[in-house]
Amino acid sequence: MTFLFNSDARRGAVFADAFARELPDVPFMMDAATVDPDAVRYLITWTAPEDLARYCNLEILFSIGAGVDQFRLATIPEQVKIVRTVEEGIVRMMQEYVTLAVLALHRNLPEYLAQQRAGDWHDIPQLQAGSRRIGVLGLGQLGQAVLDRLKPFGFPLAGWSRSPRQIEGVTCHHDEAGLNEMLAASNILICLLPLTEETRGFLDADLFAKLPKGATLVHTGRGPQLDHEALLAALDSGQLSAAMIDVTDPEPLPAGHPFWSHQKIIVTPHVASVTQPATAARAVIQNIRRHRAGLDPIGLVDRSRGY
Ligand code: NAP
Ligand code: GLV
Repeated sequence: MTFLFNSDARRGAVFADAFARELPDVPFMMDAATVDPDAVRYLITWTAPEDLARYCNLEILFSIGAGVDQFRLATIPEQVKIVRTVEEGIVRMMQEYVTLAVLALHRNLPEYLAQQRAGDWHDIPQLQAGSRRIGVLGLGQLGQAVLDRLKPFGFPLAGWSRSPRQIEGVTCHHDEAGLNEMLAASNILICLLPLTEETRGFLDADLFAKLPKGATLVHTGRGPQLDHEALLAALDSGQLSAAMIDVTDPEPLPAGHPFWSHQKIIVTPHVASVTQPATAARAVIQNIRRHRAGLDPIGLVDRSRGY
């Protein structure tokens, strides 16, 4: 029952050590060319290999990241469990990034950067945290972790998910009416939704129009959820005042794209959160143990929902 690792060698070395220590009865392989395909029970990768069908005894396909939108779920044999990697490193980095983004937007950093470039020294009236309302799209592992990290700052917090949730200190919404209610009360909107057919193009002109005038956006979900033209129009009209964007479509952004030089946009190259090999190996090993014990792995994807 071999584990096949299909990612970069640096992370592979960390995984190999952890497997040798924690799961010595599972042979760990990093070379698909020399592996016996019939022996492969577990595969971790970012994109599914073209020849996935050769691993006819595959039990779990692990995504090396938190998302699975890079897989074509319908093409993966029904009996194969698809599992996301949500580990403490990814969670911690997302907490850091979103906190950075929220504080930057709250404290008018894009405007002050523009003023600095123009040699312009003047202050902007500062709203207090208790008056800056935050709405998070997606109350999964990352949405909840981010809200938890934002609590001490005193922002009024809200979130929206598909199913009803209860989170202490957070006003939770679901369904369309709940979404509209949350949008109308979000001065900073954070997108942490998975990419599915329902969320593709979600951040569009209609949605921006439902936010309070001058609201800001933090986008750390997936690039195809954001309509670039709609964001530019909302920033030009003043409906939105600034945005911090970590994911775009395409990635990388092409040269000359208006986001590169827009004074109201801060762009980062899809780095909000990156799988950390030591903690990821621990999470994957724990999931193999769960699977062998007849339990569902943590992060098991529901194919009918697409996440
Ligand atoms: P998760 O645990 O699966 O949570 C997803 C959340 O979104 C859940 O609350 C879910 O609702 C909600 N949701 C999904 N579809 C919805 C819909 N149509 N309407 C309303 N709510 C919907 O995922 P996660 O671990 O928090 O990760 C979220 C996403 O973050 C990933 O899929 C990935 O795209 C992105 N990400 C980005 C980076 C980066 O570096 N930028 C890094 C890691 C992850 P329910 O609670 O009702 O199921
Ligand atoms: C990164 O974007 C991930 O899905 O882990």
